[in-house]
Amino acid sequence: MKKFSKVSILVCTHVHMGKHNKSCGRDASLDLFEKLKHQVVEQELDISVREQACFGRCEEAVVARIYPNKEYYMQLTESSLSELVDKAKKCLEIKD
Ligand code: FES
Repeated sequence: MKKFSKVSILVCTHVHMGKHNKSCGRDASLDLFEKLKHQVVEQELDISVREQACFGRCEEAVVARIYPNKEYYMQLTESSLSELVDKAKKCLEIKD
């Protein structure tokens, strides 16, 4: 039987249509999403990484959220991915 991860990182990849609408999908969130998955796999972490549609915090793109503690992480960049992974790892320690 499949055991589900206790910790998840959701990354917004949503794109709002319209010239003046800021959205995570316009800020290369798909690329960040793939790089985040790579880091989690490389470190063999029991963390689920999933795409999420808009969190309603579009002005702070790219937005991610860690569950189960529901902590937001805003303005995600390639250089801050490892910080996001470290926060998720701390959740793993709490849950074990
Ligand atoms: S588009 Fe990402 S939070 Fe709205």
